[in-house]
Amino acid sequence: MDSIRWEGNALHLLDQRLLPSDTVWRTIDTWQAAADAIADMVVRGAPAIAITAAYGLALAVRTGADRAAAVEGLRSARPTAVNLRWALDRLESVADKHVESEAVKIHAEDRQVCQSLGRWGAPLMGGGVMTICNTGSLATGGHGTALGMIRSAIGEGRRVHVYALETRPYLQGARLTAYECMHDRIPVTLVADGMAGALMAAGRIDSVVVGCDRVAANGDTANKIGTYGLAVLARHHSIPFYVAMPMSTLDASCPDGTGIAIEHRPPDELRSIRGVNIAPDDANVWNPAFDVTPAELISAWITERGHWTPTRL
Ligand code: MRU
Repeated sequence: MDSIRWEGNALHLLDQRLLPSDTVWRTIDTWQAAADAIADMVVRGAPAIAITAAYGLALAVRTGADRAAAVEGLRSARPTAVNLRWALDRLESVADKHVESEAVKIHAEDRQVCQSLGRWGAPLMGGGVMTICNTGSLATGGHGTALGMIRSAIGEGRRVHVYALETRPYLQGARLTAYECMHDRIPVTLVADGMAGALMAAGRIDSVVVGCDRVAANGDTANKIGTYGLAVLARHHSIPFYVAMPMSTLDASCPDGTGIAIEHRPPDELRSIRGVNIAPDDANVWNPAFDVTPAELISAWITERGHWTPTRL
């Protein structure tokens, strides 16, 4: 399963908004279309939007667009995932004629990063593993981060059963993780977010593993809204709580979680599902896409290079 394909003069993105019912690939041929695809969540997941931004810059160069405007437009498409900035920073000093090959390299490297991270994380996985959002092949260049740890563990013969939280309001867990697991024959049970505590209390969860969008130097970790609550529940139940963290998600310039910009999404994402109202039209809404889990609730951060230790400030 993949979600990003580069064909030399155009980028093809699997429209993740329509999964699992429809498989539609969008053709992206300008940097503005790449930025819109990130903002509108055609593509989502921190590593996947970084790869898309890199290809977006390649499209800017190819079409003779103003490179500085493209960098700015792509960088601001979504504010929380620092990987987006990381990819554009990496391309900053790359000459126009090499931008495309560097973007292809970023894409290929991400797959290797996930596989390496998966190998480091696999020994931690076994039994009932709870996860939130989608951190699999769809969210990365392939294999996945948190879901990659699970995939690697299963590949090594460990028995793992995934409990996928549906992940309100955007339903990445229900629409994408359940779908991706079933596609790859990974045992999975879908649960609503509000069931996490009861499932832990029932003794069915051995660990929680999540992805991340930005990790501050002290280890405070921004990830999909609901992650913080899960970490609190896990601590209450003495269940280990792991963060799968590509090094590109570390923001060393950010001392702690208070400096992480949290994206707020449009109110209708909460008031309706696929155009069908599930709340009063004019209900007041608070809709942050991410929350910050304090470092002290996290048992370990697993990267492509092994376990990462935060700088204690
Ligand atoms: O809003 P999304 O779907 O882009 O949020 C994604 C997440 O929160 C993921 O956990 C994170 O980006 C890591 S993906 C490997």
